[in-house]
Amino acid sequence: VVLGIDLGTSSVKIVMLNKQGELVGQCTQSYPLIEVKDNFVEQDPGVWVEQTIRGIEMLLQQVTDVIVEGISFSGQMHGLVMLSEQLQPLRNAILWNDTRTTSQCRLIKDTLGEKLYSITKNDALEGFTLPKLLWVKEHEPNIYEQLHMFVLPKDYLRFKLTGELCIEPSDAAGTLLFDMDNQSWSKEICASFNIPQTVCPPLVTSDQLVGYLLPKYKELFSQNSEISVYAGGADNACGALGAGIVNPRSALVSIGTSGVVLTPSDTARYVGNFIHSFSYLEKFSNYIMGVTLAAGESLRWYKSTFAPNLDFDNLLHEIEGIPIGSNGLLYTPYLFGERTPYGDANIRASFIGIKNTHHRSHFTRAIVEGITFSLKQCFDLLKEQNNQIEQIVCIGGAVKNEIWLQIVADIFGMPVSKLTNEQGPALGAAMIAGIGVGWFESYEQAVSICVETSRTLLPNMNNHQQYTKYFECYKLIYSETVSIND
Ligand code: XUL
Repeated sequence: VVLGIDLGTSSVKIVMLNKQGELVGQCTQSYPLIEVKDNFVEQDPGVWVEQTIRGIEMLLQQVTDVIVEGISFSGQMHGLVMLSEQLQPLRNAILWNDTRTTSQCRLIKDTLGEKLYSITKNDALEGFTLPKLLWVKEHEPNIYEQLHMFVLPKDYLRFKLTGELCIEPSDAAGTLLFDMDNQSWSKEICASFNIPQTVCPPLVTSDQLVGYLLPKYKELFSQNSEISVYAGGADNACGALGAGIVNPRSALVSIGTSGVVLTPSDTARYVGNFIHSFSYLEKFSNYIMGVTLAAGESLRWYKSTFAPNLDFDNLLHEIEGIPIGSNGLLYTPYLFGERTPYGDANIRASFIGIKNTHHRSHFTRAIVEGITFSLKQCFDLLKEQNNQIEQIVCIGGAVKNEIWLQIVADIFGMPVSKLTNEQGPALGAAMIAGIGVGWFESYEQAVSICVETSRTLLPNMNNHQQYTKYFECYKLIYSETVSIND
């Protein structure tokens, strides 16, 4: 078997896959966010490692008598882990959903001008890694001075398990230090901010063998043979692979803490409208992606605030009896700002159109519709770039509830498929390990063996028409919303 380890924002998920592409076991371990203050979101890298080891131990209790041939990783993108010369973390990791870096983003745009777009193919957004590095340089110079190398979350975890430090293009692309055309660190950008290029980790490819599990961790497994470790990829790239998205004819809609809409792209190019343009898992492959910062997070926040005693199934059940458009109640999911299409870390969420006839269930439906409208806005922008999209695969939150999945099909006006036994990015990571150990010859072959669509929901075009009216209204809310900074 092989293991795929997805180091997510709220938990680490480990899946065990066999050569036939079947799931043999899985395990999830959670860890907290450290919200130092508004907009500041951190995590202790040591906890990632502890919880991963605990997860592996639990998985090996569930599934015995297996030989693990390889391990690979997927992880939350952009998070900054700063390492000292002794390769110890210098501070907590600053995560992708931390938006303290608005002024560093401005500095990046002012310093690089057009080069930002021609080299990185992306806008400067608060969540990305370079702004975080510049924030530490400005606010914690004593820590910055000790920086020997930075890594991203999954790369730190892999380093602790193998002793080898590296990164691969799908995560390097989200740092704003990466030259997308040359697939290398940008000397020019490093020089512009006086960052020695030696702080950037060595680049490898996703399915490259980077080392072996250290003896103290290999002991957990009852086998004599070495366990090979392959680099892996960013969670969105691995989520796309695990959903079988390998060419521009299909798109992924993924609803985790954040929501993403993603489609592979033939070229790496700057798109605008805060559409991200990142590297995919194969050499010189790319994808474009729109991001809703608080997708699943909107529902989590709403439930814990207004319906703490219900579980998600019961909460979502109550939206069924509520009409399309929630009787005129609209929600925008800007709880911690928005990426696509606004690139605005200061905007905040809103409910619009509240009436005294609205019940909680209207608010619940409005939350679900608002998250989906935000993803539809991303999708429309991706479709302008890629008119080949004929299939949408949905993973994450909406899939657990068919009413929501139908809302996705109706709002998008497109057939939406879900997968048999969806495992999110962890499956993509396991598939990379499968390629690494030689089970699968290519990413396409890995998909044909490991990924299966279970159901496709067709849009009800009458509902789609009705949603269009609300969607047009939804898009007007952003520019009319004042952000109050307290
Ligand atoms: C993508 C992004 C998020 C994280 C979530 O740019 O910031 O989707 O990858 O883990």
